[in-house]
Amino acid sequence: MLEWDALEDFCNTCRRCRLNENRNKVVFGKGSKTASLMFVGEGPGRDEDAAGIPFVGKAGQLLDRILEAAGIDENDVYIGNIVKCRPPGNRIPAPDEARACLPYLRNQVYLIKPKIIVCLGATAAKYIIDDGIRITRDRGQWHQRKGYWLMATYHPAALLRDEAKKRPAWEDFKSIAAKLKGLKVG
Ligand code: URA
Ligand code: URA
Repeated sequence: MLEWDALEDFCNTCRRCRLNENRNKVVFGKGSKTASLMFVGEGPGRDEDAAGIPFVGKAGQLLDRILEAAGIDENDVYIGNIVKCRPPGNRIPAPDEARACLPYLRNQVYLIKPKIIVCLGATAAKYIIDDGIRITRDRGQWHQRKGYWLMATYHPAALLRDEAKKRPAWEDFKSIAAKLKGLKVG
């Protein structure tokens, strides 16, 4: 495993998959390197590719508002993605692209050692929790693995497309806030 600076340098020059060909910026991750809570999304969109920072567009702004409403301290959060370069047209990352990039995310998890990892949407859930996971059916459930608590919930972009998903997502974020609090007290 690499330390932060070496890992970031490595990612910034990565050509392990075809996504490097069209990227403007590698989107490494943002937030606290000692966070208790880590979120994993799918991959950078247009705004993120331009900024080099994850979740800065509309979905990210919604995520910020949800975290604030749930009383989750943004200083205790780290946010990354399954792939660090934007898939053209925001398509879902191909399996070989995800597999090429996942070691970097694992290295980040190893350095951060969060207590909780929340997968935002089906792509993150598939690669981090279980290949057969279905967000609509399995969201909000806690899984314990290798000392981490894992949960999948809706991607904030899905909440923007479908109002009906907001209430269940809100239940999930309350559950995340409660778990975080419980782990800190316990
Ligand atoms: N959607 C994602 O999955 N990740 C981002 O960084 C932005 C939007
Ligand atoms: N805050 C709420 O009250 N509800 C949501 O769905 C999201 C944030």
